[in-house]
Amino acid sequence: MTSALSLLHDRARQLLDPVHYDYFAGGAGDEVAMGENERAFRRLALLPRVLCGNDTRDTAVTLLGDRAAGPVIVSPTAFHRLAHPVGERATARATAAAGTVLIASMASTMPIAEITAAARDVRPDAVVWFQLYLQPDHAVTTELVHRAEKAGCTALVVTVDSPVFGRRERDERNGFLDLPPGLAAENMRDLPGSPPGDTLDIAMSTALTWQDIRRLREATALPLVLKGILHPADARLAVAEGADAVMVSNHGGRQLDAAPATIDALPGIVEAVAGRVPVLLDGGVRRGSDAALALALGAAAVGVGRPVVWGLAAEGETGVRQVLDALGAELDHALALCGARRPGDLSRDQVVARGLGLAGGAPC
Ligand code: FNR
Ligand code: LAC
Repeated sequence: MTSALSLLHDRARQLLDPVHYDYFAGGAGDEVAMGENERAFRRLALLPRVLCGNDTRDTAVTLLGDRAAGPVIVSPTAFHRLAHPVGERATARATAAAGTVLIASMASTMPIAEITAAARDVRPDAVVWFQLYLQPDHAVTTELVHRAEKAGCTALVVTVDSPVFGRRERDERNGFLDLPPGLAAENMRDLPGSPPGDTLDIAMSTALTWQDIRRLREATALPLVLKGILHPADARLAVAEGADAVMVSNHGGRQLDAAPATIDALPGIVEAVAGRVPVLLDGGVRRGSDAALALALGAAAVGVGRPVVWGLAAEGETGVRQVLDALGAELDHALALCGARRPGDLSRDQVVARGLGLAGGAPC
């Protein structure tokens, strides 16, 4: 493959310390869920619509009240200074320049306030959301939320798929348990009870329940996105508990290896949510046409994880920009060929399984 993304991936693989490469590249167990995320897109086809006269297109979307230049956003990934010395600052600058949403990981190697400042330096209205793992101690969670609010984040993305971390066998084999000296999870400094900042293990806790989401809902006015939803019943619960969006994600195949590909899980979640809140998705998005498939199946936006890390490792800020620009241009191209002016114009009847079988279709 010679896509911009795969070339950046190749370059990142050459440049990174193999142990760090494995941390970013790896998934849980046999890495079935990780591989299926990508393969499942290739089992689907998009039916073009013709003669729709869509000479002007607009990929812009509004997500939780924030404007984004397109529906491809940056999913939270940890420890960017492990990929490149400029770390999250480079990711924030590139994402702001591309005009899309950065979901900053709680496990960043730079404090959230510095990340939002770097983004706003490029674009005063840059959108940064903060990803959070609920902490066993509610006081720690609320302190993290206050830091994100103070930094100007406009939504909280609560990752709920990690009561424990998945078993990443590459990391186990490599003995990769701690960050190298000089790097730390900077948001975790000086918190009540002071959890250590240098460990990779910052998962939530198996004891947490929907009650903890309720408490968080009461502790902040920011919109809440629940990330890591795969079961339709959980999507319904999320809406009932006041979530403002749900994100279909299997954590890039890093948690439950038996989990389904996210694009396969999406229709069930869209049906369960029934338009009450937006549904986002990440996992395996490598082409604009993957994004188009997810949009057609009802996603409001898609996130990319590893491609951003590869862009960062290969070329720093420029590499992240290349990833986002390539996906944005490919999506615009797919819209043109599918007879859609806007991301929301793609419809479910345009998605079919590869092989025999035809969809009906509504006039555009
Ligand atoms: C992640 N992911 C993740 N998710 C999260 O909520 N908080 C985090 O800190 C991280 N960290 C992280 C590190 C690395 C190296 C990876 C690969 C992933 C999961 C991430 O947000 C997203 O769900 C997946 O990466 C999406 O899949 P793709 O695009 O990598 O296939
Ligand atoms: C990971 C965490 C930090 O997947 O979410 O590595």
